[in-house]
Amino acid sequence: MYSRIIGTGSYLPSRIVDNHELERMVDTSDEWIRTRTGIVQRHIAAEGEFTSDLAEAAARRAIDAAGIDPNEIDLIVVATTTPDLVFPSTATLVQHRLGIRGCPAFDIQAVCAGFMYALDIVDKYIRTGAAHNVLVIGAETFSRIIDWTDRNTCVLFGDGAGAMVIRADEEHGILSSHIHADGAYKELLWVPVGVSNGGAELEAGRAFTRMKGNEVFRWAVNAMSDIALDALKHNNMSVDEVDWVVPHQANVRIIHAIGKRLGVSPDKLVITVCDHGNTSAASVPLAFDVAVRDGRFKPGDVILLEGFGGGFTWGSVLLRY
Ligand code: COA
Repeated sequence: MYSRIIGTGSYLPSRIVDNHELERMVDTSDEWIRTRTGIVQRHIAAEGEFTSDLAEAAARRAIDAAGIDPNEIDLIVVATTTPDLVFPSTATLVQHRLGIRGCPAFDIQAVCAGFMYALDIVDKYIRTGAAHNVLVIGAETFSRIIDWTDRNTCVLFGDGAGAMVIRADEEHGILSSHIHADGAYKELLWVPVGVSNGGAELEAGRAFTRMKGNEVFRWAVNAMSDIALDALKHNNMSVDEVDWVVPHQANVRIIHAIGKRLGVSPDKLVITVCDHGNTSAASVPLAFDVAVRDGRFKPGDVILLEGFGGGFTWGSVLLRY
């Protein structure tokens, strides 16, 4: 059995913040942001708009595209680092809104690699026959853990959600998935405040992302290049057999560096970071949905997905669409 994507959807909050708006908030420039990151704009959730709202909207679009009844879904997995609540999980909030009862629903947290982790788990459920129609969502309101006075981070991130409905299928689907983590690097990319150690910082609303950008950059390029090669080797495939690469959307320079290392021509790289910024766990399913809807992906295409995030965590999924 393969895990086949039968419907995709995405959602972006309506408010767009362009680089010029950021120029008025921190010491930066449109030119710096464009040349160092490729980012032109990002979407930011409205006050009172939460991760579950974004996730629900993306899920409804994916379910519509799949043409199934929500009650056929027998597993819901949400990848997020910015859940609405400590508990219950965002997955159960979305489940309830969709009018689904009884099926398992849980969140997973692997920051920007979260969607790779979610697909890896879902694939194992499907291959073992434990699930047949799965709703998998990456959704974030990352703007809520950004210090909007810190130019090192605030220009990079945005909010959004992407979703897939995945069905057990005898022919096409996920060929392999590979996920990894190394907790030795937590201080290169983290929010050094949480629930258990939150204290005054949490109460003061200072749970913000901190990052050593250039070290993360190097790590991201190396990890995502290596894992792509692992995926190809595992499937006995050459890079020429890959039709599309959908990498984590953090920085256009990271994406092009990976493409160059792999020897993938730039027109096979799906790039949405310019319009969305880095939406963490939502970035890959969002980019995937964009390419589905603009007609780039054709049935049978071989597509490589990749993620990299805090932890560090990283992963890839190779699939036949
Ligand atoms: N506007 C203007 N200048 C900025 C700036 C901004 N928004 N952010 C940083 N700078 C400055 C720095 O302070 C530094 O100034 P200095 O030389 O006077 O100290 C200078 O620009 C260069 O900084 P550096 O960090 O070396 O730039 P860079 O080319 O590495 O680009 C990033 C910075 C953050 C864009 C890049 O490192 C990156 O994308 N890293 C990975 C981030 C990422 O992907 N994170 C999430 C992974 S899931």
